[in-house]
Amino acid sequence: MVRIALVTGANKGIGLEIVRQLAEAGVQVLLGARDVGRGQAAADGLASKGLKVEAIQIDVTDGKSIATAAAAVRGRQGRLDILVNNAGIVDAEDGPPTMASPEAARRIMETNFIGTLSVTQAMLPLLRQSPAGRIVNLSSSLGSLTVNGDPTSPYYSARLIGYNASKAALNMLTVQLAAELSGTPIAVNSVSPGYVKTDLTGHTGYMTPEEGARLPVKYALLGEDAVSGRFVEPDGETPW
Ligand SMILES: NC(=O)c1ccc[n+]([C@@H]2O[C@H](COP(=O)([O-])OP(=O)(O)OC[C@H]3O[C@@H](n4cnc5c(N)ncnc54)[C@H](OP(=O)(O)O)[C@@H]3O)[C@@H](O)[C@H]2O)c1
Repeated sequence: MVRIALVTGANKGIGLEIVRQLAEAGVQVLLGARDVGRGQAAADGLASKGLKVEAIQIDVTDGKSIATAAAAVRGRQGRLDILVNNAGIVDAEDGPPTMASPEAARRIMETNFIGTLSVTQAMLPLLRQSPAGRIVNLSSSLGSLTVNGDPTSPYYSARLIGYNASKAALNMLTVQLAAELSGTPIAVNSVSPGYVKTDLTGHTGYMTPEEGARLPVKYALLGEDAVSGRFVEPDGETPW
């Protein structure tokens, strides 16, 4: 049985690499993008190399777009085996709690947390049709309350209240959803890719997107004895 995956925000960066690596592992991948043109161009690039990839329009902040995408998957594939909630943003108006724009924090929450919650709810009936559903939430070490409070952590000074809170909220989704779905074949985990050179980081990371995609892909492809409700980074488990 060929597994079917949906990756959101996959027209570039880590998401595009997750699509490539899943397709190379034999998965049929739906490359999610909010912009049809950017999504189609990215999917065409991979499909031209013989990979089973097709574009699907999905803006995680637009309920209609999410519902249309879910209906399309229901009609064409009938189920989903893997959902990678990768779409995410930072915002130039974000910053430390004393200075950040509350509107920026709202925008970030809308995409990184509410968007992920909305997509997950819409796709859950399709994941329930899978013998082994896998949900991977692209989190960040910056979403760790422990790391944010640890002066010895290299991330201690990365004080972005909107972004960091959005990933902490995403982690709460992982914990609660994993608990709700225990006893089902669906596993849900938070995966921090590491510090990756993409548009999101202004290309300041120390990993390539290809390297950053590896751990999310590993968790997307977990076998029957899959762990669930974990928060991991390339070095191991991340403290919540
Ligand atoms: N890079 C890192 O070091 C790092 C570290 C920890 C976690 N992460 C997480 O990894 C994920 C991917 O980040 P990245 O570094 O690959 O960033 P990126 O290169 O900026 O890519 C982000 C992707 O998300 C899409 N997106 C944004 N808003 C969207 C929306 N409303 N609906 C659908 N798609 C949307 C973007 O689409 P457009 O092209 O249309 O803007 C783009 O495809 C994010 O969740 C990020 O928080 C990254």
